[in-house]
Amino acid sequence: MDPAVLVRVQPPQPIFYIQGPFLFNLFFKNCVIINLMSERAFLILAAGKGKRMKSSIPKVLHKICGKSMLSFVLDSIESFEGEIGIVIGFGGDIIRSELGDRVRYIYQSSQRGTGDAVRVAKDFWDRYKTLVVLPGDVPFISSNTLRKLFEIHAKEENAITLVTAVLENPTGYGRIVRDGMGRVIRVVEEKDATSLERNIKEVNGGIYCFDVGFLRDNIFRLSDDNAQGEYYLPDLIKIAIESSLKVGTVKVEDNFEILGINDREALAQAEREFRRRINRRLMLEDGVTLIDPDNVYISLDVSIGRDTVIYPMVFIEGKSVIGERCIIGPNVRIIDSVIGDNVIIRENVVVEGSRIGNGCEVGPFAYLRPETVLDDEVYVGKFVEVKKSFIGRGSKVPHLSYIGDATIGERVNVGAGTITCNYDGIKKNPTFIEDDVFIGSDTMLVAPVRVGKGAITGAGSVITKDVPPDSLAVARAKQVNIEGWAKRRRKGDETKDGG
Ligand code: UD1
Ligand code: CA
Repeated sequence: MDPAVLVRVQPPQPIFYIQGPFLFNLFFKNCVIINLMSERAFLILAAGKGKRMKSSIPKVLHKICGKSMLSFVLDSIESFEGEIGIVIGFGGDIIRSELGDRVRYIYQSSQRGTGDAVRVAKDFWDRYKTLVVLPGDVPFISSNTLRKLFEIHAKEENAITLVTAVLENPTGYGRIVRDGMGRVIRVVEEKDATSLERNIKEVNGGIYCFDVGFLRDNIFRLSDDNAQGEYYLPDLIKIAIESSLKVGTVKVEDNFEILGINDREALAQAEREFRRRINRRLMLEDGVTLIDPDNVYISLDVSIGRDTVIYPMVFIEGKSVIGERCIIGPNVRIIDSVIGDNVIIRENVVVEGSRIGNGCEVGPFAYLRPETVLDDEVYVGKFVEVKKSFIGRGSKVPHLSYIGDATIGERVNVGAGTITCNYDGIKKNPTFIEDDVFIGSDTMLVAPVRVGKGAITGAGSVITKDVPPDSLAVARAKQVNIEGWAKRRRKGDETKDGG
């Protein structure tokens, strides 16, 4: 009997694999043998350099609407039971550091083809019954199609079941060759195909279910005698047919599911189509108005509330959340931020790692940098930069200000040109402005400094000391008026006054 037996120990203990023939002598209290051979494992092929990508990072880490291809593939199998292995090679360390230890890694030292990639992972898949192979560069495969693949594979008792699609333009894919009865007999790669075979429109999606017994017996029989000098995984189909074993197929309903991304042009095509689908969902399911859906760039993980209106050239990225009835854009970028309801973000605003409360208004031409929090009904206006600051309910910073490392209370008015001088050349210092303060225009608040509740600062003041509540702070040179001086200068005799 095969070596691997899965013994499930009652939760919360983990699952153990027990090797060897002695297992029948094992009797554990609380242990139940649930299966003599584990059912299914997944193997994602991600070792290829992706030469056609012309990149120094692994192809599978390139992103589509803010998410890597590899993450798309992992998400598609997330809902199924089964261990996940990833074949890595070129840039493998980068993949490891992105994914951590939630998957098993198999290192393929030189990329000699998809068949070789599965072969080097033999120790990983050997103890399972079925192996599902997915290329890391086919990101949009759906869980539905995979479920169908597993069902057909089991029902038909196939040696191999693969995902196919009929494409108007099959260029670049392996073609499915069927016999007179319509049965798949082999896959021919484009580079090896005759011109007749190139006319075949049914293509190999690169996603397979293998019977592990078949795989074990035949994976070492692959040859690299072909146009690319590689071990082709789909050559196993011909081997199965020659051994009178069954090969089945599942056709996808939506060809987008098997789109393979080999170069930057395909990456851009995937991005465009995926973006179109995100925008369509926002409009039809979430009730968001997109003035021009072709020119709005919204990442997958963004959520937007009903009746929000988005103007062209708006980018909303990361895990941003936008509330209901907001008006955003044109020309706005929002990254990893949370925005409440009824918020207006006018043109040319950047919001990064910030939180904006209900009823706020921002811009035009404002920059909210990370760790900025605007409470409800706050106004941050024209040419204002805010960094790592809290601005309380109903407060306004309408024009030309820099607010950094500051805590501002409620109903505060910050006059035009105000600057929190937060950096002394060594460290950042905090500014506190309490409720109902009126900061006069062009005030320099030299931090650390506190302006007490209800206080006023005179325009042009350089505030270096704390201001007590309800007082007026003026810190500027006294004004001197010299009567008639200007007139005398025009006549050229102003020196008489010593001016
Ligand atoms: C492959 C199929 C082709 C199918 C297409 C679907 C083969 C020979 N051809 O072609 O029939 O239509 O996918 O998208 O399988 N990889 C490794 N190690 C290697 C080689 C590749 O891990 O030695 C990985 C790559 O990183 C990639 C995946 O396998 O993620 C597919 O390889 P790729 O070179 O892109 O195959 P295609 O030419 O697209
Ligand atoms: Ca490919």
